[in-house]
Amino acid sequence: MSDSKTPLLDELEKGKWPSFVKDLKKLSQRSPKAKDLLGQLELSYKDKKTHWKHGGIVGVKGYGGGVIGRFSDVPEEFPNAAHFHTVRVNQPSAWFYTTAALRQLVDTWDKYGSGVLNMHGSTGDIIFLGADTDALEPFFTDLSSNNWDLGGSGSDVRTPSCCLGPARCEFACYDTLALTYDLTMTYQDELHRPFFPYKWKFKMAGCPNDCVASIARSDFSVIGIWQDNIQIDQDAVKEYSNIQSDVCDKCPKRCIQWDGKELKIDNESCSKCMHCINVLPKALRIGKEKGACILLGAKAPIVEGAQLSSVLVPFMKMEPPYEELKSLIRRIWDFWDEYGKARERIGECIQRIGLGNFLEKIGLEPVPQMVSQPRENPYIFYEEYYEEE
Ligand code: HEM
Ligand code: HEM
Ligand code: SF4
Ligand code: SF4
Repeated sequence: MSDSKTPLLDELEKGKWPSFVKDLKKLSQRSPKAKDLLGQLELSYKDKKTHWKHGGIVGVKGYGGGVIGRFSDVPEEFPNAAHFHTVRVNQPSAWFYTTAALRQLVDTWDKYGSGVLNMHGSTGDIIFLGADTDALEPFFTDLSSNNWDLGGSGSDVRTPSCCLGPARCEFACYDTLALTYDLTMTYQDELHRPFFPYKWKFKMAGCPNDCVASIARSDFSVIGIWQDNIQIDQDAVKEYSNIQSDVCDKCPKRCIQWDGKELKIDNESCSKCMHCINVLPKALRIGKEKGACILLGAKAPIVEGAQLSSVLVPFMKMEPPYEELKSLIRRIWDFWDEYGKARERIGECIQRIGLGNFLEKIGLEPVPQMVSQPRENPYIFYEEYYEEE
């Protein structure tokens, strides 16, 4: 028999990767909540069942989202983990912090919570795990007096997030940070007060490389794109080798030619996949007429299967005050509000109701870019067909 109080959890420290058990043990020397969290987890391993129970809405005044309530079902044994609420804090665009801001955040958390945190959750926010109900209000007051705000949770706008865009990346076709900040400020009500059928995620990517994986992880993806030709510096092309095999043969549209002297791109056929630009970054640049493509409907497999988002608007200028974009968002939300079922994501709702009907309701014309191959979607009818008949 081992002397350790957590013999089952100790097994997790034996692998070759860093273990959260080690971290929690270290933290538990100064955090009673972390200590009881470990104790309760060990009990769960022993009993082969969770000791967290559902029930009880918790939050801070004026907000419906941002705090996810957790209660222990063995509070007598682990009183410090009786409440273990998760607080989502809205991260700065693209996660740019000053060290002073980070220190201020962790000091505040040490004061009110367990000390356990997650930088960053998959939604993007800073996640603080383990607060007592009584600590929520003072913790929030402290945060907000230092200009932090809560993020989204539940059926509302989740904290918008973006790639680092023009702050560090030459491929950015619009200012992802500015748009993320603007949407965050514009939709405060939708972020903090859940009244949607289900969650709504905005993710902003500066170019089709989509470093934030918005196409898979957000209901509404804004992906930077250009409309004109890829810019070519022919002298710089010559500094690269294997152009035929590394670039031309791998272009999905086979629309690049290299004769050993000059690189030619048939821009009409280019799908803007970024491959050639990624491989020849010194020689090729995105075009000059920049904006974004709007996609809709991605989700992980919960009610229905996983879905990638698909093109809704092939090209839109992306400049403040983003009125065209906001008008589109408003029309989609009105539709979802009226037709969405509880816990149905927008992508599922459109599938159920039909793309043709959805487009009609939001007042958008069907365009070929919405369809990935000819006759794939039998529900879109073009006006011209009727005119011929
Ligand atoms: C008290 C028991 C807990 C339960 C029942 C629980 C369950 C959940 C649920 C249902 C969500 C998603 C909420 C939403 O989509 O709005 C969530 C968020 C999350 N929880 Fe927990 N959680 C608990 C404690 C913890 C702990 C102790 C950790 C890690 C040490 C953790 C890690 C996370 C992470 C990483 C997220 C995602 C945050 C994000 O991406 O925004 N949770 N949790
Ligand atoms: C059978 C096991 C699991 C089920 C059924 C499940 C289910 C789910 C569901 C339905 C979501 C919401 C997805 C959405 O955004 O639509 C989710 C999100 C998430 N899950 Fe799981 N999950 C499981 C296991 C896990 C495990 C083992 C982890 C981590 C070790 C995990 C971490 C997360 C995180 C971090 C998110 C947030 C993702 C995001 O916001 O993009 N899940 N999970
Ligand atoms: S998505 Fe494009 S713009 Fe954003 S960081 Fe990635 S490569 Fe750069
Ligand atoms: S962006 Fe993609 S499709 Fe367009 S020319 Fe380059 S490799 Fe081909």
